[in-house]
Amino acid sequence: MIKVGIVGYGTIGKRVADAVAMQKDMKLTGVTAHSYSFNTEVANEKGYKIFTVGDDGDLKLNGIKPAGDINNLLEEVDIIVDATPKKVGKENIEKYYKPKKVKAIIQGGEKHETTGTSFVAQCNYDEALNKDFVRIVSCNTTGLCRTLHALNKFDITSVHATLIRRGADPGDIRHGPINAVVPVLEMPSHHGPDVRSVLPKCQIFTTALSVPSTLMHVHTVIADVKKKVNVDDVIDALSSATRIRIVRNAEHLRSTAEIIEFARDLGRQRGDMPEICVWKEAIGAVSNGYNKLLYMQAVHQESDVVPENIDCIRAMTGFKDGQKSIEMTNKSFGIK
Ligand SMILES: NC(=O)c1ccc[n+]([C@@H]2O[C@H](COP(=O)([O-])OP(=O)(O)OC[C@H]3O[C@@H](n4cnc5c(N)ncnc54)[C@H](OP(=O)(O)O)[C@@H]3O)[C@@H](O)[C@H]2O)c1
Repeated sequence: MIKVGIVGYGTIGKRVADAVAMQKDMKLTGVTAHSYSFNTEVANEKGYKIFTVGDDGDLKLNGIKPAGDINNLLEEVDIIVDATPKKVGKENIEKYYKPKKVKAIIQGGEKHETTGTSFVAQCNYDEALNKDFVRIVSCNTTGLCRTLHALNKFDITSVHATLIRRGADPGDIRHGPINAVVPVLEMPSHHGPDVRSVLPKCQIFTTALSVPSTLMHVHTVIADVKKKVNVDDVIDALSSATRIRIVRNAEHLRSTAEIIEFARDLGRQRGDMPEICVWKEAIGAVSNGYNKLLYMQAVHQESDVVPENIDCIRAMTGFKDGQKSIEMTNKSFGIK
């Protein structure tokens, strides 16, 4: 059994905790609480052991009995999944994980240079084998890497993508916009280089903007390819890859709202959709002296990185068969 601790029990951390608890080869040792909130109450009700970070953040005042502090958690685990806010993961590596010689996964808010290894299971599982520190790339980068990796069989020469990003997560009352479309005033945006941290040969250029929605990001992607392609070839390539779902107008899955409603109706935990959803009718191919393929995809920012964290735990603790790990994880999530 791989003993896993979660540091940072927010949007990503609480999902990874539940996913770890579902794996037959893993044991959730415990989660941290940085302050008291409904998240702590849920962890407590689920029977997860709670470890404090810093002071007890009002836990005891609110009737929660911590099992210890973060140092106690580190003594009991084989690996930590750190899902703290941007920059804290990097600090925690130096402050806690290196001195205690504990392996750790950090998230996409951190820079590639912090670990030197960035991870998307279906693209580069082997690179994380037995490593001490690995970064799971952001939700957007995960989405782009999954589909571009599947389509690289057509020999992609360059990619141009626009990222239409949700303004905030559904439970977030601090961020926005609530009545504006906000372009990222940086050309190209930083997202393209991040794809190269997993797919180093991918010549990708991105632009990005934020919109008043909480449900998913949407990407519009145009790729130049060497091989002649048609729409059916693209659908086949995406359908046969893992963690990608083709969604169709005929199902009335025409928007991010309907995709999330679909996930809820499927009974997915928290209404999550960890697969990258590509609209069938938004796939195009042009062969007119040059070969281009075009598609649009929706990325559920709260959940697409969660199965990646699970596969990364296995890779870093020495489980060599990436394909098998992906199958085990997918089975536990009920995804293909
Ligand atoms: N949300 C997304 O859409 C998304 C998608 C992909 C990747 N990511 C990445 O995942 C990471 C986590 O993001 P998130 O959205 O899950 O953040 P979040 O919802 O804000 O959760 C962060 C958690 O970390 C805790 N925390 C804060 N400071 C801490 C510290 N010094 N030590 C220990 N715990 C601390 C917070 O507790 P308190 O609330 O008590 O402070 C909270 O429980 C980031 O790198 C982010 O870029 C996020």
